[in-house]
Amino acid sequence: MRILLLVTAFNGVSQRVYEQLRWKKHQVSVVFGANDSEIRQSIDEFEPAIIICPFLKQRITEDIWRKHLCIIIHPGIKGDRGPSSLDWSILNQDEYWGVTALQADTEMDAGAIWSSRNFKTRSISKASMYRQQVSDTSAQLIDDVIQHFQDESYRPEPLDYSKADVKGQLRPLLKQCERMIDWKRDNTDTIIKKIHAADSFPGVLDNLCGLDVYLFGAHIESSMTINAQAYQAKEIIATRKGAICLATIDGAIWVSHLKRQKTDKARYIKLPASQVLQGFIDHVAEAPLELLTPYLSETYKEISYYQDNGVGYLYFNFHNGAMGTQQCIDLLEAYQALLKTDVKVIVLMGGDDFWSNGIHLNHIEASTDPAAESWQNIHAINDVVKAILESSDKITVAALRNNAVAGGVMMALACDHVFARDGVVLNPHYKSMGLFGSEYWTYSLPKRVGNKIAQELTQGCMPLGVKQAEVLGLVDTVFATDTQVFQLSLEEHCQGLAQHHLFDQWLANKACARAEDEQRKPLQQYRDEELAKMKRCFAINSEYHHLRHNFVYKISCGLTPERLKTHKNIIDGIVKFDPVP
Ligand code: COA
Repeated sequence: MRILLLVTAFNGVSQRVYEQLRWKKHQVSVVFGANDSEIRQSIDEFEPAIIICPFLKQRITEDIWRKHLCIIIHPGIKGDRGPSSLDWSILNQDEYWGVTALQADTEMDAGAIWSSRNFKTRSISKASMYRQQVSDTSAQLIDDVIQHFQDESYRPEPLDYSKADVKGQLRPLLKQCERMIDWKRDNTDTIIKKIHAADSFPGVLDNLCGLDVYLFGAHIESSMTINAQAYQAKEIIATRKGAICLATIDGAIWVSHLKRQKTDKARYIKLPASQVLQGFIDHVAEAPLELLTPYLSETYKEISYYQDNGVGYLYFNFHNGAMGTQQCIDLLEAYQALLKTDVKVIVLMGGDDFWSNGIHLNHIEASTDPAAESWQNIHAINDVVKAILESSDKITVAALRNNAVAGGVMMALACDHVFARDGVVLNPHYKSMGLFGSEYWTYSLPKRVGNKIAQELTQGCMPLGVKQAEVLGLVDTVFATDTQVFQLSLEEHCQGLAQHHLFDQWLANKACARAEDEQRKPLQQYRDEELAKMKRCFAINSEYHHLRHNFVYKISCGLTPERLKTHKNIIDGIVKFDPVP
């Protein structure tokens, strides 16, 4: 079936839907929603049977939805309408929330319902809810919609507020005045809830140290003994790895990131809170954590750990999956500490929303010398990858619970085993950021998929679903989408590895294979060759600096990148790289 995805951006959910439909052998193309004439042209050229909008903020013009069936994936329960669905749900602490597939109609979000599913909510940020539960539920709805579309007898359900299961309502855009924190009245839970409801966009506007800033990345603090009486609410009482700890009327919270409010003269980006407040909070003491902080401790922690049955699970929950220079250094230190323990298997768990998105483009953009910072960052991440590649007395596992991009994908490939959660999307390429890439990818990627496919993956700049990645050999095994089932399968597999009677034999084989590879071409040579090319990418006035700037400031021309207009290949009969066998 020909399916056109009409999207505001080819974001994580759009990529997931794209991969899911392609896996099911549909012909899928993409068009961005900003330009009506481009949308009409894509429809005329492609003649899709159905238009699906997994992430669309714009309104679809009437002539389009009247002529073509357009299904919008709306992040709300049945009957919910408006632009701030998740925000309201988090603020109201709804026990359940949902996603609904609606047919585009005269009134926004009021069309007939093609499918709707609910999920149990947790105390997480809006972005996390979107990347985790909304993404998983949207994937299920897409299957429902296709199934219904293919059933001629199916009739969608008109929106009818008198029905018992239609519990949503039209809600307005949530404004800053409604998001504002009242530090004298709001308790810790309320503050966390308010920040979560605005994270990752637009943030809660506040004033800290005289600066107007948006707050992001709220974490509860219950491990540090805070005598709330001793501090004024909103007082900054500690820092940790770029985050700030603020007193509340009944405890304390951490805020990891801030973004200054733009002025007529300047625009700002999201950065670690203590970096934004530099010069104002230098007197505030750093509250360090032990290297391998227990995973379950309720505090702000980027790196954490638990161990079970000879297996060590290392989490690196870096904000937005981006790994700055110091974060790579910290991760390496934690990894090296683990190497010294008696665990037999080390599992790299990544973070709650992303496994890893490679080097930290915001940190680089904000640095006084972005080229130098890029250079340091790439070396720091390379050092982590090198340590993984050279771990001779442990079996290493990458547990791709969430999406990974660029160097993040290549870091996973340094592990002996790559296990992934179904639905995860990988972007194993750097070219769209103007980079050649490093992280020893020229060693790890062809080793798994061969030179030809490595070339196609890195040059094509398309997302890759983990089921396709499994077919290519880039991923070893895909476990269920459900996070709890995934975790159980992962633990079972990893314990199986640790207790296997061939474990010592595997280690011997691994050492032997590494020695042979080293003999053929030393790892250092791969690194030197990659970095020689990266040096040119980092040169002043290179495309990379321009692309990175646009990425962090979210500047887009609004037009669909040519590579996403896959219908052009379908129409021209060009058989482009298609990893589905
Ligand atoms: N450095 C800094 N920030 C990053 C990042 C990186 N490497 N990768 C992603 N982010 C940020 C985004 O700016 C965004 O920030 P915000 O939501 O706080 O404003 C957030 O992470 C989520 O990214 P987003 O693009 O919204 O995620 P997505 O899942 O919808 O989209 C991709 C996925 C792949 C399109 C997108 O993350 C991407 O292109 N990342 C580029 C990564 C990259 O090129 N890295 C090269 C380094 S080797």
